[in-house]
Amino acid sequence: MTPTEELQEEHQGITLMLKILEKVGVKMEAQEKVDPDHLERIVEFFRVFADKCHHGKEEDLLFPEMEKAGVPREKGPIGVMLAEHNQGRAFVRGMGEAASRYKQGDPRGRKEFVENARNYISLLTQHIQKENNVLFPMVDRVLAKKTQEKLVEGFENLEREKIGEGTHETFHRLLHQLQEIYLK
Ligand SMILES: [Fe+2]
Ligand SMILES: [Fe+2]
Repeated sequence: MTPTEELQEEHQGITLMLKILEKVGVKMEAQEKVDPDHLERIVEFFRVFADKCHHGKEEDLLFPEMEKAGVPREKGPIGVMLAEHNQGRAFVRGMGEAASRYKQGDPRGRKEFVENARNYISLLTQHIQKENNVLFPMVDRVLAKKTQEKLVEGFENLEREKIGEGTHETFHRLLHQLQEIYLK
């Protein structure tokens, strides 16, 4: 697998969780009861799988290689991607805080969770489309085959160091579980 194929596969997992989150938001807005543990696990998925691991691979390994290959960071696609990762972090933090409030029975939690979720869904959906359609084809063009092989190895190490062995699989099980509950 090439580095961009691997990242696109992760985009599929993230997109599925965004669909689950959207459904959760609709239920919450309709004042239906949603298990607060589900909210916490969804936030954990975005915080660890999407941000720490997936965005980590992009920021620590992929983008620096692109810069070395002559793609500018400022005023270019890399700068835009970095700014969007940062915006996303703020929404995930907001969802996390709202989920704790909701769990404690604070009525503000529901509204704040839905607001942050909506913003995150729209940001990340567009972000993933930009990467899949513009950034990754550029990566495939500008990075030498050897560099791409080195990146795949680097991704593996980063995953082991940042999230630990087996965590990837745990998140995929969570995805499947929540999919059964919310998307059937
Ligand atoms: Fe990204
Ligand atoms: Fe990405």
